[in-house]
Amino acid sequence: MTPDFLNQVRAGGNIPKHVAVIMDGNGRWARSRGLPRHAGHREGMKAVREALEGCIQVGIEVLTLFAFSTENWNRPPREISALMGLLELYAKKEKADLVKQGVEVHVLGELDRLSGRTRRAVNGIKEATAGGEKLRLNLMISYSGRKELVEAVRRIAKDVAGGELSPENIDDETLQGALFTRGLPDPDLLVRTSGEFRISNFMLWQLAYTEIHITPVLWPDFTRQDLFAAVLDYQQRDRRFGRVTTP
Ligand code: IPE
Ligand code: IPE
Ligand code: MG
Repeated sequence: MTPDFLNQVRAGGNIPKHVAVIMDGNGRWARSRGLPRHAGHREGMKAVREALEGCIQVGIEVLTLFAFSTENWNRPPREISALMGLLELYAKKEKADLVKQGVEVHVLGELDRLSGRTRRAVNGIKEATAGGEKLRLNLMISYSGRKELVEAVRRIAKDVAGGELSPENIDDETLQGALFTRGLPDPDLLVRTSGEFRISNFMLWQLAYTEIHITPVLWPDFTRQDLFAAVLDYQQRDRRFGRVTTP
């Protein structure tokens, strides 16, 4: 990979505003080294830093990272507690740097399922980074796209039942406004590592017209160069949104 990859991205113009990442392959990274799965998760924290700094260099405004799915609660308790411990460590260790870098962290998901300690840690990082203007980082934790939609429908149904909203007035914007990601543009680019070709219940509404880049790189090996490669790939795409762009 050439060192002027970043320059190529900048020269390409058309920088995605919002990039979402399904960070996958930590377990396989560890297994291939004869290490326990949690070693892969730990190593994955470096890749988070890489992706984040790469986004800032490119000028991406929103980065959404899928860190823990609702379905991941079905993993062995030991792995879950290792992941939660790493989350707490990340919040503690990275807080000062994130503030310095101008990153505003949001944590989206079913946060009431987190332990008090993890919740305090993620709230701490949210509060400390509030007002950061360079990049908005969404950490999706205990997140499920279907549950997000169910929750949105519930909110809307309450407004209807309360007489504040009539069913005829429900439109795309009503639903968008009831999601965790309300007010944010949809992701322009979705990156999934480890070569898996699926969405795994991630941002089902928001990904409607997102460009998808799948790389075989395992998440702990992911560097900013891989992010730049994903953006270069994105810049080659012809986003038609159902229309015709060639005569
Ligand atoms: C991604 O890596 C991290 C989480 C899902 C929390 P995995 O743990 O899914 O790694 P693989 O897919 O087993 O290699
Ligand atoms: C998706 O990865 C969830 C996260 C990256 C947090 P998984 O490894 O859980 O997805 P599946 O099980 O392979 O679909
Ligand atoms: Mg996986």
